[in-house]
Amino acid sequence: MTERGRTSDKVITRAWWILIVTTVMVGGLGLFLMYILGGQIEVGDPIVERFTPTDIFVQPDAEWNTSVLEPGSPETREIRKLTWLVFAITAGIFVVVEGLLIYAIFRYRRRKNDSEAKDPVQLYGSNPVEIAWTIIPIIIVFVLCLATIRTIQTVQPTKNERPENALTVEVIGHRWWWEFRYPELDVVTANEMFIPVDRPIWLEISSADVIHSFWVPELQGKMDAFPGHLNYWKLTAEEEGTYLGQCAEYCGNQHANMLIRVEVLDALDFGSWAKRQAQPADVATGKDVLLGREVFLKYACQNCHAVAGLSNGTYAPDLTHLMSRVTFAGGMIPNNADNLKAWIDDPEQIKPGCDMPALKLSTEEIEQVVAYLVTLK
Ligand code: CUA
Repeated sequence: MTERGRTSDKVITRAWWILIVTTVMVGGLGLFLMYILGGQIEVGDPIVERFTPTDIFVQPDAEWNTSVLEPGSPETREIRKLTWLVFAITAGIFVVVEGLLIYAIFRYRRRKNDSEAKDPVQLYGSNPVEIAWTIIPIIIVFVLCLATIRTIQTVQPTKNERPENALTVEVIGHRWWWEFRYPELDVVTANEMFIPVDRPIWLEISSADVIHSFWVPELQGKMDAFPGHLNYWKLTAEEEGTYLGQCAEYCGNQHANMLIRVEVLDALDFGSWAKRQAQPADVATGKDVLLGREVFLKYACQNCHAVAGLSNGTYAPDLTHLMSRVTFAGGMIPNNADNLKAWIDDPEQIKPGCDMPALKLSTEEIEQVVAYLVTLK
């Protein structure tokens, strides 16, 4: 080989090293930053500090567990099986391909006494080899495809496959919160879905505005929520407890703050929850509470929010039993008087872009309306 050939070999080798070292450094820096910042982004948000809502933390007192690998329903167990199958096949492919590559790099590297003019033996048009690398990928893709179709058929019901004893919940995505309606129980709630354990739940999923996606990883796969179209999901939670979820389709600037809590109760507890929820809770007494109720009626609150027995708004979350929920603002904030005051004072500061307007209430009016709201249990 000529001098020029040698120089360009060296340049290529150096370029490879630079590429490898840069990749490792950038990747390492990225992981380091993720590690450092990971736990702090939500907590230290300066926008929120201005109003100091207490204990700001997403999804308080629930175990932060949204792993698809820890199924809590027969449906997610099927999904996990498929996940592992796909992982095993692709990991196998990775090991074989990388293994052959590394083997070839070392086995056929240039050695000291190699003649410089000698090229390796060149192979063209080998039928067995070409057939093999055409057929093998087809078989792999076919296996993955069949396994996926089988899983979809198992977990995803069609409209007519509603189980006889199922409880229906209408799930409606809004920017940026979830509405849950129980037509058989005459119950409406927001962001927090209560269901009984060991009973099939029939979800009818839709949207009031843009496309969202309902996803509680431990209980079911993702299901798109479209405006003007119903999608169906069924799931059976096998253990009591709190399950967390998240809108899984980008739907605007507060997409990340469109959280879902699912509370799975035993049949008895669920029965009493549903019974309580179906009753009106508007039983205001006391001066401040009654004044707060007037504030609620006087300003635009009642146009958007329903409180059974008082107002019929459907645009925003139903507040009939507001204080029975642990969070508000799409599951973003712990539900307590201080946070409600900060929210009513200026929602935009907490959740920029949200549809709740700042009604410019006086501090006194805010105190009064919150005094009323906290009675809605
Ligand atoms: Cu709703 Cu993303």
